[in-house]
Amino acid sequence: MERENFNSKIGAILAVAGSAVGLGNIWRFPTEAGNNGGAAFLLIYIGFMLLLGVPIMVSEFVIGRHSQTSVVQSFYKMSGGKKWWKLMGLIPVIAGFLVLSYYAVVAGWTLYYAFQAGVDGFAGKTPDEIGADFQAFRTDAVTSLIWIAIILIVNCAIVALGVKKGIERGAKIMMPLLFVFVLVLVVCSFSLPGTAAGLQFLFHPDFSKVTGATLLNAMGQAFFSLSVGLCCLCTYATYFKKEVNLMKDGIHVATIDTIVAICAGLIIFPAVFSINGLTPSEGPSLVFVTLPNVFHQAFGSYPIVAYTFSLIFYLLLVMAALTSSISMLEMVVAYFYHEIKVSRPLASIGITVVCLILGMFCSFSFGILENVTLFGLGFFDLFDFIVAKIIMPIGGLLICIFLGWVVDEKVLRNEITNMGTLRAPYYKVYRFIIRYLAPIAILLIFVNQF
Ligand code: ALA
Repeated sequence: MERENFNSKIGAILAVAGSAVGLGNIWRFPTEAGNNGGAAFLLIYIGFMLLLGVPIMVSEFVIGRHSQTSVVQSFYKMSGGKKWWKLMGLIPVIAGFLVLSYYAVVAGWTLYYAFQAGVDGFAGKTPDEIGADFQAFRTDAVTSLIWIAIILIVNCAIVALGVKKGIERGAKIMMPLLFVFVLVLVVCSFSLPGTAAGLQFLFHPDFSKVTGATLLNAMGQAFFSLSVGLCCLCTYATYFKKEVNLMKDGIHVATIDTIVAICAGLIIFPAVFSINGLTPSEGPSLVFVTLPNVFHQAFGSYPIVAYTFSLIFYLLLVMAALTSSISMLEMVVAYFYHEIKVSRPLASIGITVVCLILGMFCSFSFGILENVTLFGLGFFDLFDFIVAKIIMPIGGLLICIFLGWVVDEKVLRNEITNMGTLRAPYYKVYRFIIRYLAPIAILLIFVNQF
């Protein structure tokens, strides 16, 4: 079957940045930071990005780009023909189904909220009414499912178009728009009275709030935000050209991702602190309940600004969700396309249907399936837990062990230095991290959670 590459360097970076920048930055990061003490969480999170996120991301690039084949074959070839490493190729398939199914639920909510913002549906509502609306929406099985289906269909159409015409083109259109939206919102948010308190919360660390759970949450957030550990980036890297500087691109993507997360904090926290009595630790409903209120109260004297701010904010969420969910679908499609030889459109449609069915269970866990739990968690929380706190750390650990201990060191060096054409002075540090530091850190934090 024909193997496509990303057309341009910028296209490749934007596609990977699109995979990284998502709801994790704009929805999950402010929620986690809000619950874990703000600035202290931010610092630990940045530490994990540098220590684990970037090295593992670059490792995924190495694996994908080296073999330029399916992830299953990449592991097989690079291990020197050891069959059981082929099983690593199943991680993106299993994780892809799980992550896309619950991610699509929140992505569907963002689309519905963008629609509500577009028809000025929040105007004139009291905070209680907005809270009740959200509760009614997510417990309404049919309405929420329709919005989840719409976002999954758009996602499916983009992936079905292929690497260049779908994924790369989508990233080239959506990512620049996303950056512009982020900037506009930061500027608007800085005009609010809560700016000083918001900045204090985001940048003034209080380490007394840090516990073992904070470390695990920060690590999970760093992994989730960069989409590492799922071998999703291995899949994208199979479309990289040989001249791509893997380390440089990894650092660029991590920088973009962190800047967008910080900007999300700069948008949300000043807005939250502008309203008396509100705190940033509102949990996952922060973005869907607290913010519509906040936008309308904070910009109360200028309804047109409140309207525009809300609309841009939810469109931003939709685009962030789409560029990431594209990569989630692609990692499963790539498996069926290259390994099982199913056509790309057929694979995209089939996987989308399965994800819609699984997503239905996740969505219903807020309503009719509220009382159905496994290990004390509803389907949505269970999928999130399995992906962010189990598959991602274990995937990251295995990737480090694979490149640090199994693969011939010459192969690794050749990939990082582009066959000796780059100086790569950081190579030794990188190798030390993936051989020792990252596996030990992941193991310690992972075991600690149980
Ligand atoms: N990296 C993706 C996000 O941040 C999953 O949403």
